Amino acid sequence: MKVLVVGSGGREHALCWAIAGSPLLTKLYCAPGNPGIAAVAECIDINVLDIPSLVGFAQDNAIDLVFPGPEAPLVAGLTDAMDAAGIPCCGPTRAAAQLEGSKTFTKEIADAAGIPTALWERFENADSARAFVRRRGTPIVVKADGLAAGKGVVVAMTEDAALAAIDAMMDQKVFGDSGAAVVIEECLVGEEVSLFALCDGEDALLLGSAQDHKRVGDGDTGPNTGGMGAYSPVPCFSPELEQACMDKMIRPALKEMARRGMPFRGILFAGLMLTGEGAKLIEFNVRFGDPECQVLLARMKSDLLPALQAACDGELGDFDLRWNDQASVAVVMAARGYPEAPERGSVIAGLDAAAAQSGVAVFHAGTETGPDGTILAAGGRVLTICATAPDLKQARDRAYAGVDAINWPEGFCRRDIGARAL
Ligand code: AMP
Ligand code: GLY
Repeated sequence: MKVLVVGSGGREHALCWAIAGSPLLTKLYCAPGNPGIAAVAECIDINVLDIPSLVGFAQDNAIDLVFPGPEAPLVAGLTDAMDAAGIPCCGPTRAAAQLEGSKTFTKEIADAAGIPTALWERFENADSARAFVRRRGTPIVVKADGLAAGKGVVVAMTEDAALAAIDAMMDQKVFGDSGAAVVIEECLVGEEVSLFALCDGEDALLLGSAQDHKRVGDGDTGPNTGGMGAYSPVPCFSPELEQACMDKMIRPALKEMARRGMPFRGILFAGLMLTGEGAKLIEFNVRFGDPECQVLLARMKSDLLPALQAACDGELGDFDLRWNDQASVAVVMAARGYPEAPERGSVIAGLDAAAAQSGVAVFHAGTETGPDGTILAAGGRVLTICATAPDLKQARDRAYAGVDAINWPEGFCRRDIGARAL
């Protein structure tokens, strides 16, 4: 099979690394990829949003399967365009990708499908939103309705903070049209976990779960990020609870999406809060998480490629995936200044020494190759150091041994990934 992965982050490096090991693979491309991905796939210089060029490339090279990593090309209609060209693409159509693109849409699906979630209300008028906050009190959660690069959610502990968020989103329009409407929700309290399922429009296969670390600093301090580290499995999220969430959340969502004529194919990512009243849905995303993808794939024993193909063919019904009984931990190394203003251009050494550590894989995210062949930092999140071991503590020790083998004074990481579970 000839496969095209779309994206350039640590998630896509892990995907390429997993797919590259498949005996079914004959050729692997990645658009645009990165220097780490170049070791396992041929990188093609096409932007993830340049849909006509991606389709043209897939046609010219007889690609058998496209796997998009990030949400942006899905929301922009990459799957629709590949479908029209007759090229199997393991991702949702633009209509189905609204599950990530619109908070209101997700809440409507959740309510229609009977999925437990925070009570919510949508406002297009800032005064009504303010009145609602004053009436409901705090803590309360204010969300821009549309995509806001992960920054459109304010968990407000005070009324002032909630009102300021409404001001910023609706009056000052800091997220443009994405904040023209806001969703205001009940604040859920508990452990936050991420559940992943591969879907074929009708059936869903559990891929496992992970816990992300969203804040930039140790002890969950500082601003939100794309994710500073993850681990899997999550001790407080038992296999029984995972299956219950498949039955109460993932499958009902698929059924409701199909009923609305927009069957969901691809990776469905449920962000959940394990509250005192049971698991509740926070949000859906329509893709793998980054770095959750890295820790899940590190535990996967089966070949990923036939599963992706079965999802495209609508044949997941009698599919089975196997996992090793190891734990995995991923530590993200970011460039100084991330998330506000990451410094670019510093030299990263010791990558081979890190990858040579027992059980460690080094995934590139924001890197580029310098003129003399050195690896340079070229983004916010730059590397994921991922380790597996028989238990979480050892996996964590191995991941940090990998981190410590890297010589990059301008980089930093959290030192407490997985600490809560230990
Ligand atoms: P989202 O952009 O929807 O992923 O939200 C970002 C983060 O805000 C989530 O990962 C949660 O930590 C938090 N969050 C969102 N909705 C709620 C809620 N209803 N209650 C508590 N925390 C929430
Ligand atoms: N790590 C969280 C995400 O990918 O959305």
